[in-house]
Amino acid sequence: MKITVIGTGYVGLVTGACLAEYGNDVVCLDLDSKKIDLLKAGGIPIYEPGLDTIVASNVAAGRLRFTTDVAESVQHGTVQFIAVGTPPDEDGSADLKYVLAAARNIGRLMTDYKVVVDKSTVPVGTAEKVKEAIAEELAARGVKLEFSVASNPEFLKEGAAVEDFMRPDRIVIGAEDERAIHVMKAIYHPFQRNHDRTLVMDIRSAELTKYAANAMLATRISFMNEIANLAEKLGADVEHVRRGIGSDPRIGYHFLYPGCGYGGSCFPKDVQALQQTAVENGMQLKVLNAVESVNEGQKQVLLHKLISRFGDDLSGKRFAVWGLAFKPRTDDMREAPSLVLIEALLAHGASVVAFDPVAMTEARRHLGERITYATDPINALEGADALLIVTEWKQFQVPDFEVVKAKLKTPLILDGRNLYEPAFVRQHGLEYDAIGRR
Ligand code: UDX
Repeated sequence: MKITVIGTGYVGLVTGACLAEYGNDVVCLDLDSKKIDLLKAGGIPIYEPGLDTIVASNVAAGRLRFTTDVAESVQHGTVQFIAVGTPPDEDGSADLKYVLAAARNIGRLMTDYKVVVDKSTVPVGTAEKVKEAIAEELAARGVKLEFSVASNPEFLKEGAAVEDFMRPDRIVIGAEDERAIHVMKAIYHPFQRNHDRTLVMDIRSAELTKYAANAMLATRISFMNEIANLAEKLGADVEHVRRGIGSDPRIGYHFLYPGCGYGGSCFPKDVQALQQTAVENGMQLKVLNAVESVNEGQKQVLLHKLISRFGDDLSGKRFAVWGLAFKPRTDDMREAPSLVLIEALLAHGASVVAFDPVAMTEARRHLGERITYATDPINALEGADALLIVTEWKQFQVPDFEVVKAKLKTPLILDGRNLYEPAFVRQHGLEYDAIGRR
């Protein structure tokens, strides 16, 4: 099938590459010529495991192309996936200007039937706006052409995006005419694995499903963060509690890990956008309001632990931070809890030496030279008053604690991701405090 993907961010690039992998003829459009030049030269603008290989092999096979030419991209695909950014407005609602600009281009240039698919996470009602925008452009041209609009939210996780796309738990298709449903089912036929995973529903429900999924996951995390904080007060251990409740199949083990707050391009933005949608419809989502405020507080948890150890004035102190990305296996710094912690440390007069296996270039864009970037995790510890762990990269999981102790000026680890067994670390003569651990 001829497919166009508009936007070569995480979602667009992964969608384009994975659809090409199953034999589709895919053109990816981006207006950012630097990005397209990089992709054409074989580069990948983001760090995402496995993406480089799948892009390279499909480009070589002639099934995947990149362009900045809007007319070519509209002409190409019978199916036009809109996967452009939806940055938050000041009030937290998603800004649709890029989505609607893409829709208008399609209406302005199409010459045959198109299925226009919203792949970006967009507020409920966006498909109707996309439909209107295309219809207006067609009317302005005075042409009558058929088109369908569908919603097909993406559930991929950064760091596992290719795998998530290729082996989806479910494929949500919001579509309201048979022609679009038929096309969408045909595209996703190869991704089914043993049984039909497509859930076809009305467009508004599909749009809401995406927000509800992310909001539910964020809720679990904030709930566990509160339970962890309570466990600390009670002298209980949240690790036992986590396993104790996760073993109930109605609860399950996933997304019950307390930490120093959730970040990333989805949870914070989607929680806020859903709250805003509710407000616009005369409602407050009380649970989500709490989820967000707990998360804001949780990003300060390591700072509070430091202050109770060293006092409010941290000037002259130097802290090592392991992990900058909002989670492992990505260089994404969007809404990363590390940024909140580091800004707070700097505001309290401390200096910071940080290490992250892949996100230091991205981190520099946010923090510049206000902190020092170490060449490896151990170097970061030299003379530091504590090690603060913010991202659970694999390479942090089994450090040589004797070396860690020898390098630190104050033998203290504050672990925002609960990487270690407290008793084991303490055996090495280190002070160790984590989130909700005894
Ligand atoms: C998320 C959803 O998982 C994905 O389905 C959706 O399409 C996009 O948003 P992503 O943002 O890539 O994916 O990361 P995810 O692995 O979900 O983690 C989000 C944040 O939650 C991270 O900061 C992570 O550290 C935090 N988290 C996750 C926890 O604090 N505890 C957990 O138990 C799980």
